[in-house]
Amino acid sequence: MMTTSLFSFSFFNIIFFFFACSPLFLFFTNASIAVPESLPTLSFEEGYTQLFGDGNLMLLRDGKRVHISLDERTGAGFASQDLYIHGFFSASIKLPSDYAAGVVVAFYMSNGDVFSKTHDELDFEFLGNIRGREWRVQTNVYGNGSTSVGREERYDLWFDPTEDFHQYSIMWSKERIIFYIDNIPIREVVRTAMGGCYPSKPMSLYATIWDGSSWATLGGRYKVNYKYAPYVAEFKDLVIHGCAVNPVDHSSPCGRPDTAVYDLLTMSFEQRVLMNRFRRKHMTYYYCYDRDRYTIPPPECSTTENIARLSYGQDGVRFGNNRHGRRRGQHNHSRVTQADVAL
Ligand SMILES: *[C@@H]1O[C@H](CO)[C@@H](O)[C@H](O)[C@H]1NC(C)=O
Ligand SMILES: *[C@@H]1O[C@H](CO)[C@@H](O)[C@H](O)[C@H]1NC(C)=O
Repeated sequence: MMTTSLFSFSFFNIIFFFFACSPLFLFFTNASIAVPESLPTLSFEEGYTQLFGDGNLMLLRDGKRVHISLDERTGAGFASQDLYIHGFFSASIKLPSDYAAGVVVAFYMSNGDVFSKTHDELDFEFLGNIRGREWRVQTNVYGNGSTSVGREERYDLWFDPTEDFHQYSIMWSKERIIFYIDNIPIREVVRTAMGGCYPSKPMSLYATIWDGSSWATLGGRYKVNYKYAPYVAEFKDLVIHGCAVNPVDHSSPCGRPDTAVYDLLTMSFEQRVLMNRFRRKHMTYYYCYDRDRYTIPPPECSTTENIARLSYGQDGVRFGNNRHGRRRGQHNHSRVTQADVAL
């Protein structure tokens, strides 16, 4: 539908001066160019490594395209070779079509392997569904080990994510995190609002597909049906435009000063309008409105603009969305957690 630049004009003006001589200049001069498309994409060998799944990870087109699949034996996953502190991370993803209840595809950043007690995490999670019902998308944020406080938001989409590739991106800077779908900002998390829980340690980027039968669709009522396997999730346009850290001491000499641009990035007025429109129309669960779960909502909720509050119930689920099958207290902090995946 709409195309939009990630960068506001004021931002453009600020950085114009600094980057006029760098190759980045090209991509800032035309505000209608979507940033991720103009950022270099990495092949699998250049940036990633397989995590699990043996033959269920397949490379195509010189490793520019990755298929990960779930069958009765295993799911599959890959991760970035490096840990990054800040940057822009993106992939175009096409989800398995047809019956996909219980199937979970995740595209996320985490450092749970490195900082087990104080880990940070930024998630896109795709939850499969029964035939005729759409996939759901969830975003979540953990910071500095705040795993007891889920900050889940769920959305329905304005397109069928199994029909074609769509771009899912995470911009993470010192000051803010912005989630995008097809370059439309859908969620912003601001450091000052989140306080000590703001993700601030290096993270790796991950992509996985796995069996979430126990809870993913209607609280586990619909399991993965392997009659329809393999379930294949396709990834392409893999972008990592970030500041890699030293793997040993996590110092960040950051040989790429160009990524410092993200620290200056703010949303333009137009982008904020788009984001709020998306949220009003498509957000089906909002943790800030979930009074059953949080008598006192997490701190950043007090600074959040009022998004159609009256449309949401006491449980944070938008009216008109089926309330059955919610499930609480489940804890799996490297994947979808406390996933309230009501249809
Ligand atoms: C993160 O958590 C650790 C351990 O709980 C704490 O010592 C540290 O101050 C926290 N960091 C921030 C930025 O709040
Ligand atoms: C979290 O989920 C992953 C993927 O399904 C699973 O392998 C792991 O055992 C789970 N961890 C916990 C603590 O439940």
